[in-house]
Amino acid sequence: MPADVMTGITPTPTGGPLGAEIGNVDLHRVDDALFAAIHRAWVDHQVLLFRGQSMTDADLVGFSRRFGDLDFAPVQEAGRTSTDGFPEIYVVSNVVENGVAIGSLGAGEAVWHTDMSYLPAPPKASMLYALEVPPIGGNTSFCDMYAAFDSLPPALKTRALGLQVKHDGTYNSGGFIRQGVTPTDDPRQAPGMMHPLVCTHPDSGRKMLYLGRRRMAWIEGLSLVESDSLLDDVWAHATAQALVWTHAWQVGDLVLWDNRCTMHRRDPFDADTRRVMHRTQVKGAAPPAA
Ligand code: OGA
Ligand code: MN
Repeated sequence: MPADVMTGITPTPTGGPLGAEIGNVDLHRVDDALFAAIHRAWVDHQVLLFRGQSMTDADLVGFSRRFGDLDFAPVQEAGRTSTDGFPEIYVVSNVVENGVAIGSLGAGEAVWHTDMSYLPAPPKASMLYALEVPPIGGNTSFCDMYAAFDSLPPALKTRALGLQVKHDGTYNSGGFIRQGVTPTDDPRQAPGMMHPLVCTHPDSGRKMLYLGRRRMAWIEGLSLVESDSLLDDVWAHATAQALVWTHAWQVGDLVLWDNRCTMHRRDPFDADTRRVMHRTQVKGAAPPAA
């Protein structure tokens, strides 16, 4: 009997190029059979949405741990680094309390990125849980990095295989400088990590583009001009609207993404409104070259 019959979950595809909603699941009650079905749906659909959850930080960490050990929250631009007692939780918020930002990324746009790809072994999964959302704006979009590779023009596909990209660790996706980093204008000198431009996904076996962040990226061995021109082409291709699904948040939504075969970005929103999200990130391995 297939797992979805045994467990009663039926992923409903978003209608976009990636992502599915899983209804009628209470993430407080995930037994091994249900977890296996969720894991399979996550590999198949790349992004999963669960609505109507009510999770404490302990619940979020507990569900996240089903996927493996967690990474601690990355260093944020200023203020607190994580929530009290939960070093695994990364707070994404524009809210300022007593003059201190309670989280990262402010209210502006968060540009397209992969979470923490400036590390040797970036997280394989991230999940974001909505505690407070603004009345408008702050939507989060995801793009399909399998389709981004598959649909490259043949000559570019061949060229891309074998290239290495430097993933910059100076700026976060909100454009803020990470604590302890001295910025430079030269991506060749900036702190960061080399990863293959085309990787094989360890769970699906499919090839995908692996881009990380556009700002301060550099393709090893190329001049800055050549590297920028190739990166611009590949980035425009990967983030084209046809490969994107956008989520409009409600309180209680939990969105779980595969941080290897997707990238994400966030729309800006009115800074006078409140948005509070808690994120966890599941340890991954170095993305293997295709
Ligand atoms: C993240 C992130 C965007 C958002 O949590 O990794 O990029 O929508 N968040 O808040
Ligand atoms: Mn992110």
